[in-house]
Amino acid sequence: MVKHRESRPGHKAAGGLGARPRRDMSGKPPAKPAHASKPAKPSRDHGERVTEPRDVAPERPLMTRSGERPAERVPVILESLGAGDFHLIDSGNGLKLEQYGPYRIVRPEAQALWPPSLAPHVWDNADAIFTGDTDEDGMGRWRFQREALGETWPLQLLGVDFLGRFTAFRHVGVFPEQIVHWAWMKEQVEAAKRPLKVLNLFGYTGVASLVAAAAGAEVTHVDASKKAIGWARENQALGRMEKLPIRWICEDAMKFILREERRGSKYDIILTDPPKFGRGPNGEVWHLFEHLPLMLDVCREILSPKALGLVLTAYSIRASFYSIHELMRETMRGAGGAVESGELVIREAGPDGRTPGRALSTSLFSRWVPK
Ligand SMILES: C[S@@+](CC[C@H](N)C(=O)[O-])C[C@H]1O[C@@H](n2cnc3c(N)ncnc32)[C@H](O)[C@@H]1O
Repeated sequence: MVKHRESRPGHKAAGGLGARPRRDMSGKPPAKPAHASKPAKPSRDHGERVTEPRDVAPERPLMTRSGERPAERVPVILESLGAGDFHLIDSGNGLKLEQYGPYRIVRPEAQALWPPSLAPHVWDNADAIFTGDTDEDGMGRWRFQREALGETWPLQLLGVDFLGRFTAFRHVGVFPEQIVHWAWMKEQVEAAKRPLKVLNLFGYTGVASLVAAAAGAEVTHVDASKKAIGWARENQALGRMEKLPIRWICEDAMKFILREERRGSKYDIILTDPPKFGRGPNGEVWHLFEHLPLMLDVCREILSPKALGLVLTAYSIRASFYSIHELMRETMRGAGGAVESGELVIREAGPDGRTPGRALSTSLFSRWVPK
């Protein structure tokens, strides 16, 4: 069987969480430009090819924070055994077998180093198998075992309808490991006795935005890809959720939050799920290792005084959860509350979706909460 490295839309960069100039709250000028300072390789994102950066997002130096760092809870492993129409059936030999509604799908999964639990005929019976380029940003093909399937099919998670989608980059229109964050956010929104404002950065096909809006939040969804925003709107229409208050914004995430900061906008919950490398719609460069400190710094400034959480997920990066954990604690100095960090894992659930097996790690996360 072929082994592939997993990636998600937007990726590829080298480097470390570099030292950046800081400023006090009065704001001295930056010592060096921060955003878009390194040349980036061309990349493909949802099939849209962008080449050279054409625009440089605005920036500012980091704030100097004082006060105690928030309390810490580590390691926290947030585990999902699947939800709604999704579960992980089995994994092994560099692959995973997943159930998405009516379809069983086989995709590359570099972390599944162990042998599969289920017999080969179960795997061979999958409806769709992704056979791709082994390169991280490689395109690939879906092989349909019985009949050619349509590009999309309906799915439901946490009560929200959306479309599963066979994309050219092995993704299926949703990252189900995020369900644990979405369920947490839904709880916060439903428990609040006021309409919460939720910001979903790098929002992709909008499932988190729809979950938040369905729970009663006013949502701002930001993504650089026109195509992904189009898919998110399709998802909204599928669930007849057009009347829900969601602003769909196709923009570079950093540029957007810097503008929100200048405007004094505030949010009660911010979800941010940045790729390792990405591009804004005007070629703005996003390098996680270079820009994450500023992104969190700005996110903190646009959290409302009664904010309920800042949730960061990071995937496909060579780092420990401690690197985003300590960054989050430094960023949230003086804010009180706690920072909990660890991994998001999906547990195998067998063909019936109810038989717990091995845990598959998908990403790192760090979340600041006020208590
Ligand atoms: C892995 S997806 C996020 C998935 C999402 N959290 C979910 O679970 O549905 C990463 C997204 O970041 C977007 N992106 C990449 N670079 C960006 C940038 N500079 N500004 C805004 N969005 C960007 C991509 O278009 C892609 O939709």
